[in-house]
Amino acid sequence: MRDAGLVLPRNDPRQYDELADEWWRPDGVFAMLHWLARARAALVPPAARPGALLVDLGCGAGLLAPHLAGKGYRHVGVDLTRSALTQAAAHGVTAVNGDATAVPLVDGCADVVAAGELLEHVPDWRAAVAEACRLLRPGGLLVLDTLNDTALARLVAVRIAERLPTVPRGIHDPRLFVDDRELVTECARHGVDLSVRGVRPGVSGLLRWLFRQARGAATPPGQEPRIVPTGSPAILYQGHGVRDG
Ligand SMILES: C[S@@+](CC[C@H](N)C(=O)[O-])C[C@H]1O[C@@H](n2cnc3c(N)ncnc32)[C@H](O)[C@@H]1O
Repeated sequence: MRDAGLVLPRNDPRQYDELADEWWRPDGVFAMLHWLARARAALVPPAARPGALLVDLGCGAGLLAPHLAGKGYRHVGVDLTRSALTQAAAHGVTAVNGDATAVPLVDGCADVVAAGELLEHVPDWRAAVAEACRLLRPGGLLVLDTLNDTALARLVAVRIAERLPTVPRGIHDPRLFVDDRELVTECARHGVDLSVRGVRPGVSGLLRWLFRQARGAATPPGQEPRIVPTGSPAILYQGHGVRDG
């Protein structure tokens, strides 16, 4: 594995260029993003109207796209990283090169806004939340997942995970992790009543996956670890909520 994080500062977006050919490898360093994309998409109902728009902030290479197939949305992805957007476009995403804190789309255009594993990478996550809520039409749905601003999240997601060969070193800056209660408060300020729940990979699936990784064996289709709810949002959590009005 190329270890972009050893030579670039933590959370430097250029890491995604260095790791560009990892995005769509099911067992690559972004494997968990595939599992999380599946779980995030499960929170998105079929579109309620023709032409419904889903705006995917920090879409990366568009890993959400296959899990939205058949739900009836036009999938627009916004990301800073052009090399990722090229891959997202190849998977049917309408790619917009831009910053999640200043999105070049009009107010209220989105039936759904997704922000998967984005907020913990944005120095001003409150600005990204304001943009997500601005983009939502009244009754629109916000779905997200992120890492919590806790000592446990810093231990598990940085100090432990980054010792594994399956996690890029330096991909996270723990100073940017997002407190779940502050996120709920911020969403409420912008008219979205966010519910959060902790999630994690299912233990047996994760152990089987780690065992296969250690043997260099590929994961058979459909055998990827599932993301399951857990009692505490202290490490990783999902949020979903509807915009009022
Ligand atoms: C961990 S990846 C998640 C990608 C995708 N949401 C997924 O779950 O597969 C974080 C993504 O956010 C993008 N990103 C980071 N900061 C951003 C910002 N301020 N505006 C837009 N995209 C950003 C990165 O380029 C990267 O593609």
